[in-house]
Amino acid sequence: MTATLVFLVALLVSLCTPGRTSVPPNIQQELGPRLSSGALVVFPSTPGFAALNDRWTDGGRPTYGVIIVPATERDVVEAVQYANAHGVPFFATTGGHGTWWGLAALQDGMAIWLRNLTTLELVGDGTTARLGGGLRGTDVIHGLWALGKQTTTGVCTCASLAGPALGGGHGYLQGLHGLALDQIVGARVVLANGSLISVTSRKETADLLWALKGAGHNFGIVTEFTYKVYDVVKPNWAYEFLSFTGDKVDDIYRVSRAMMAYQPQEAVQWSQWVVDPQTDPVRPIIVYSLFYNGPPEELASYSKPLVDIGPFASVSGSSPYANLSQPAGLDLDGPGCQDQGPLQMFPTDVETYDLPGMRTFYETFVDMVRAEPALAAGSYSLIEQLSTQAVRAVPAETTAYGHRKQKLLISPVLTYAGSDNTTLNAAIAQWGEKMRSAVFANMERHTYVNYARGTETDEELYGHEKWRIAKLKKLKKVYDPHNKFGYFGGIAVP
Ligand SMILES: Cc1cc2nc3c(=O)[nH]c(=O)nc-3n(C[C@H](O)[C@H](O)[C@H](O)COP(=O)(O)OP(=O)(O)OC[C@H]3O[C@@H](n4cnc5c(N)ncnc54)[C@H](O)[C@@H]3O)c2cc1C
Ligand SMILES: *[C@@H]1O[C@H](CO)[C@@H](O)[C@H](O)[C@H]1NC(C)=O
Ligand SMILES: *[C@@H]1O[C@H](CO)[C@@H](O)[C@H](O)[C@H]1NC(C)=O
Ligand SMILES: *[C@@H]1O[C@H](CO)[C@@H](O)[C@H](O)[C@H]1NC(C)=O
Ligand SMILES: *[C@@H]1O[C@H](CO)[C@@H](O)[C@H](O)[C@H]1NC(C)=O
Repeated sequence: MTATLVFLVALLVSLCTPGRTSVPPNIQQELGPRLSSGALVVFPSTPGFAALNDRWTDGGRPTYGVIIVPATERDVVEAVQYANAHGVPFFATTGGHGTWWGLAALQDGMAIWLRNLTTLELVGDGTTARLGGGLRGTDVIHGLWALGKQTTTGVCTCASLAGPALGGGHGYLQGLHGLALDQIVGARVVLANGSLISVTSRKETADLLWALKGAGHNFGIVTEFTYKVYDVVKPNWAYEFLSFTGDKVDDIYRVSRAMMAYQPQEAVQWSQWVVDPQTDPVRPIIVYSLFYNGPPEELASYSKPLVDIGPFASVSGSSPYANLSQPAGLDLDGPGCQDQGPLQMFPTDVETYDLPGMRTFYETFVDMVRAEPALAAGSYSLIEQLSTQAVRAVPAETTAYGHRKQKLLISPVLTYAGSDNTTLNAAIAQWGEKMRSAVFANMERHTYVNYARGTETDEELYGHEKWRIAKLKKLKKVYDPHNKFGYFGGIAVP
């Protein structure tokens, strides 16, 4: 290519890439005085920037020219209005766990770091609580526990409350109480144009409430939820972790599939495939985790068909709900919460296990490890079989969430050590899609937006009913016509 052509292509790319702009150098002087005294304006050169800029994975991440740390909901309003007035793309962040690769479309933008919005208090008769938009799972679990309450949050304590809840929110308590989004009865929301509104089931905001419950990342920044909470009736959970060699893969998912027919509301199970070089350098072992809200004997009788397959190692115990993330390795200090290498997920939400598909999925993982040894160490597959009674009890049309029939959430989670490597990223994309196709087999494609990559269609992310997509697009046009919230799970504006 000639130099001119290269220049023209570069120019075109920069014009077509959304959100390429820079933060005004005098933002501190202009925006600073409009913020409350507890708020911060943090630049890449400011000490403390790195901690606020930290994400679970740096794969496909956004970059910021400034981070605003609001102390009040009014600060969020000011930040959004300032960003809009100066053409600066903005992005609200709480837990920093989002893995949507499209986030990289936001470069040199404004992060609105919500973690200081930490309200947590019971309302009235104690069946709901006001929960700040900046709380993380750990804050909600422990904060409510101290009040004798619990509610659905993600299992992972380091992810936020809002991130999972706005797109679904799968957790230990979903079989008993429904998804995280099913707990939302109201929210205070800063819209794309910087207006702050109170969203409730009243007529004027009922559609927006509907949309927040499943496609919420598209519609606003939640500064506070009104959220259902429940008395803790049975505080203790039993758990078992069973480790199997890879030759048991067919038996494990045949038995798991049979268990789906009678899995109690109190039981949560998931399995992970990880390469354990001591056992086998290429064929991953299968670590099967079970959790049960009740005594260990009851869990033991439920898990017996799996134990009968013959794990080579097992661990069991019990814990109060508030600390259940510790044995699972998903507490703040646990391995699941530590920063990862560049990572991509390929989620599939399916109604059941396609057994030949699961076998192909497994063998494809093995083939990947053989072909790209660099992917062996950190990569795994996640097969979540959470209970769904209370999830399926909610009529599908009452929220924007379009996957209530899909009982399983399965995803390869592929990564490597070290910094961004284009060759490995491309290899991951290829292997991951191959695995995902095997899991879907002939089933309708559904993908949980909170695990999604950014290559999925609106229908895959939000559901295949025509009316659902039409309603979402109509609301997107009303509330976010310029697609300010398009960086994560973005619905195409009509
Ligand atoms: C280790 C790990 C474990 C996980 N476990 C679970 C789980 O058990 N259950 C589950 O359902 N999901 C789980 N997830 C997926 C999780 O739902 C998503 O990663 C989610 O996007 C994380 O939200 P975040 O705030 O932590 O991340 P961020 O990257 O900060 O935000 C993700 C998205 O949420 C938006 N957002 C965050 N806060 C707000 C707010 N207050 N108002 C409006 N938008 C907001 C952001 O703008 C962005 O679009 C897990 C992810 C990881 C990495
Ligand atoms: C807000 O966040 C900053 C950065 O982590 C922290 O230093 C500060 O103490 C927080 N303020 C409040 C009121 O929580
Ligand atoms: C949870 O674990 C912590 C630290 O191990 C402990 O201090 C705390 O008492 C435990 N909480 C409950 C509810 O068991
Ligand atoms: C990227 O990964 C490949 C495969 O492991 C390796 O050969 C290559 O050297 C890496 N590239 C860089 C820039 O690290
Ligand atoms: C912001 O958008 C909402 C929803 O479209 C609209 O009702 C409101 O009037 C807008 N506010 C301003 C200040 O334009």
